[in-house]
Amino acid sequence: MQAHQDYIAANRQRFLDELFELLRIPSVSADPQYKADVLRTADAVKAKLEAAGATNVELCPTDGYPVVYGEKIIDPAKPTVLVYGHYDVQPADPIDLWTTPPFEPVIRTTPIHPEGAIFARGSCDDKGQFYMHVKALEVMLNTNTLPCNVKFMIEGEEEVGSANLGAFLQKNKEKLKADVILISDTSIIANDTPSIDVGLRGLSYMEVEVVGPNRDLHSGVYGGAVANPINVLCKMIASLHDENKHITIPGFYDDVVELSAEEREEMSRAPFNLDEYKKDLAIDDIMGEAGYSTIERTGIRPTCDVNGIWGGYTGEGAKTVLPSKAYAKISMRLVPNQSSEKISKLFDAHFNSIAPKGVKVKVSYHHGGEPVVVSTNSNAYRAASRAMETTYGKKPIPTRGGGSIPIVALFKSVLGLDSVLFGFGLDSDALHSPNEHYGVFNYLKGIETIPQFYQFYTGAKQ
Ligand code: BES
Ligand code: MN
Ligand code: MN
Repeated sequence: MQAHQDYIAANRQRFLDELFELLRIPSVSADPQYKADVLRTADAVKAKLEAAGATNVELCPTDGYPVVYGEKIIDPAKPTVLVYGHYDVQPADPIDLWTTPPFEPVIRTTPIHPEGAIFARGSCDDKGQFYMHVKALEVMLNTNTLPCNVKFMIEGEEEVGSANLGAFLQKNKEKLKADVILISDTSIIANDTPSIDVGLRGLSYMEVEVVGPNRDLHSGVYGGAVANPINVLCKMIASLHDENKHITIPGFYDDVVELSAEEREEMSRAPFNLDEYKKDLAIDDIMGEAGYSTIERTGIRPTCDVNGIWGGYTGEGAKTVLPSKAYAKISMRLVPNQSSEKISKLFDAHFNSIAPKGVKVKVSYHHGGEPVVVSTNSNAYRAASRAMETTYGKKPIPTRGGGSIPIVALFKSVLGLDSVLFGFGLDSDALHSPNEHYGVFNYLKGIETIPQFYQFYTGAKQ
């Protein structure tokens, strides 16, 4: 719409400056050291929602970080869109791999972002993406084009598993009443190839401890005669996959929904360039489960990955030691209809069962989330698809995202609401990695596209 484009063009610099203000606050939810900053970010989001024209803006306490709520109700008889996002970010480590400091946003061009990209932790995940919705509200209010009601729910614990959000939904069912959830926290295929995620993977995140002798030992005096917990842990981890990269935990695949040949054929039509993929990651080959393509491996197949492993001596130089303990953080990405709780239990039982004599194993559970699939046969999906088609000039391709957003399954089970995963980032934007960035093009395109969703959306009825 021309009025929207004019308003965005006239306010372009301010829209960027405001996002930069949010990006300067290090809202790392995983690290208690940043507690004051996370809380400061919640205050800043509240102020920005108010400035954009939202009413009843408040910080809703939870047992963890607060949820920022705000709304614009134009007519209770009209449909209501509930926007979800998160103001917390991943830790910036390893900090020395950042070209510029993670919380001092700057715009630089890249081959993929010739118009410039905003480099900062949280620029794409998710400050830059949820803030597009705040600015889209401003655009619609200032051009008198808001056709329905909007509610905002921006949380501060997504990156640590949203543990307190289920209870928040239970307690606030009335306040959160809506027709659909709208979320920008996923990716599109490319800036000239729009797509909409219609699936997210679930997650089971475990930590394991392998304990051998009661103290670190001289590796010459005892080495060869006593189980080394790190050697043992490595062997146990290696045994979790067979030679075809199938996961060996008994029962792991029991509930996995296999796609039909037609569904797989349709998935394979999404553009994917293996050479570019390898080049982007500087790898000479890919690796994954036999019998599945890369898109399938990340979209419709479950995984089991070590996120971190430690123990023994890792300092400067060499210390000869047979360690007493070894640890690993292991996560499994889940697909429909796997259950996070069931898979965690299977993992626990299996990991204990494969431990050799001479060590003790302790398995604990960090957090999890359930997988989701989103129907393309809804008014909300069609509105999102038409919105992107309008602003990109191409119909978006439905895709399956490999990441997880634990709250999406709870929106369905607790509030009975479907979500639209209306993401605008790119997988290559280095989310969770050093040098995370978000294209200026993507940010502004999102602000232009979101109001189109509201124009096309006609409510929950099919
Ligand atoms: N925004 C991501 C999830 C995502 C990214 C989905 C790209 C699809 C495409 C989200 O912030 C995230 O990182 N989620 C975590 C889940 C968690 C910490 C429980 C994840 O997927 O690791
Ligand atoms: Mn996110
Ligand atoms: Mn994330």
